[in-house]
Amino acid sequence: MIIRPRRLRLTQSIRDMVCETRLAPSMFVYPVFIREGHGIIEDIPAMPGQRRCSPDTLPLILERAARSRIGGVLFFGIPEHKDETGSSAYAEDGVIQTAIRTAKREFPDLTVIGDVCMCEYTSHGHCGILHGTYVDNDATLEVLSRIAVSQAQAGADIVAPSDMMDGHTRAIREALDSQGLVNTLIFSYAVKYASAFYGPFREAAGSAPSFGDRKAYQMDPRNLREALKEAALDVEEGADMIMVKPGLPYLDVLRAVKESVNVPVGAYHVSGEYSMIKAAVANGWLDERKIVTESAISMARAGADIIITYYALELADWLRE
Ligand code: PBG
Ligand code: ZN
Repeated sequence: MIIRPRRLRLTQSIRDMVCETRLAPSMFVYPVFIREGHGIIEDIPAMPGQRRCSPDTLPLILERAARSRIGGVLFFGIPEHKDETGSSAYAEDGVIQTAIRTAKREFPDLTVIGDVCMCEYTSHGHCGILHGTYVDNDATLEVLSRIAVSQAQAGADIVAPSDMMDGHTRAIREALDSQGLVNTLIFSYAVKYASAFYGPFREAAGSAPSFGDRKAYQMDPRNLREALKEAALDVEEGADMIMVKPGLPYLDVLRAVKESVNVPVGAYHVSGEYSMIKAAVANGWLDERKIVTESAISMARAGADIIITYYALELADWLRE
């Protein structure tokens, strides 16, 4: 035998030298849930280990994120008052705008990404303006643009539209540019499936639709070609980075999207994936550190330049040990 592949696996040192995928703290983004109010730090039952905070207690959570030198944090706002049109989503003193200002004041070097969507702010829990039971695409674009501008004006480095409306990236880019916000990046959720893996998030953010589902705007899990169309559109419309979501169940999509675009691609390891791991770990069925590390490596190997994960802080710490 001349070629023995096992030689490259002989020792840890050799394995590390020849490995094809490397993780770094700078590729991780940590999602944070911020609830309107004061003095709040509360557990999220469906997501053990994750907490909701208010803008004033946010620095306690961001302190570790800043210390971990992760790539950034992704903010989700949970308002006190919801209405039909989600008007608190673009209020100057809204929960997410206040959180963004606090974060940029306390930790100027930490990259802050604002989630741009309406479902946390609407009384019906859908991601846009309703006409009957239909989410009106173009009416929603106007609201999304206002949300994005308000977050950018509060200091967000990046806005991340997660609504899945057609034309959202172009609408947001034009709105930002018209306000002189030419350096605010757009990290578009270009490829977002109508997934059951978002269940725990909807409990955490109080954003479950009050009727129906999101299948008339989020993508059909049976489709791959459609993901390439969505990715191409968002890049054409000016997305600086794009996202594929969920993570592990969609690695084939992630790989295909990565090969089809020339912008950085993120994978969102979503709430359901997180909670599944937590449940198995609590039962003693899985080794948390090994499972989480292997999951992150798998997304990176499939093409993720950025990984949005509730394990961002732990992953960063583990990489430094
Ligand atoms: C809202 C939004 C969702 C997630 C991110 N932004 C939920 C949804 O679309 O219902 C899911 C994130 C997760 O599950 O971790 N547009
Ligand atoms: Zn939404």
